[in-house]
Amino acid sequence: MKVWGIVVAAGSGERFGGGKHNAEIAGKPLWQHAHDVLVAGGCEGVVVVGDVPGGVAGGGRRQDSVANGLAQVPADVEVVLVHDAARPAATSGLVAAVINRLRDPAVDGVVPALSVTDTIKIHDAGVVTATPPRAQVVAAQTPQGFRADVLRSAHRQPGDATDDAELVERAGGRVVIVDGETTNFKLTHRDDIERMRRAWRSV
Ligand code: CTP
Ligand code: MG
Repeated sequence: MKVWGIVVAAGSGERFGGGKHNAEIAGKPLWQHAHDVLVAGGCEGVVVVGDVPGGVAGGGRRQDSVANGLAQVPADVEVVLVHDAARPAATSGLVAAVINRLRDPAVDGVVPALSVTDTIKIHDAGVVTATPPRAQVVAAQTPQGFRADVLRSAHRQPGDATDDAELVERAGGRVVIVDGETTNFKLTHRDDIERMRRAWRSV
């Protein structure tokens, strides 16, 4: 299979208090960690989306940034992995597991995910409307992997989504879960960088 990766590093980092893709962990900016792990795990080429050396321009929403990256992926690529620059601790083993799962022709997409420990509530303006059974709920991470044709067509459909799997699910694709990694959390708030630096020693 010909596999490429996309790193999305074009967010404004509002909750972090500024663009986070250049923040450093272990002497390397976040986007570079995300790039390098995709290569180490089996991606032949990687497009970085964002204001970094060799990067392509981002878009307004995360999915617009992914679409810009996808436009740079060669037409003969069969599998595309999409990874957040804000998850610098994903391992090459996880990347390889995502790619491997796509060897099953019945699978369109693969999402690394962890079970949740909190009970999740659905609400409407602060009023709880439902409680999904906790055993059915998982927290999705990246890198997420997809058949390239499925991802391209899902991205052509209208609608907002916070990850690529949601677009593919909506387009009728079969998305399956592989085990995520507890260290592969996303740097979202400012405090997360200290938590990540502490976790790094145990990765
Ligand atoms: N991202 C992107 N383009 C956007 C929005 C997000 O490339 N228009 C990327 C971010 O750079 C990040 C990943 O998507 O690597 C996950 O997004 P998130 O954690 O939400 O980052 P930001 O959007 O930058 O942060 P915030 O939502 O707090 O502004
Ligand atoms: Mg965001």
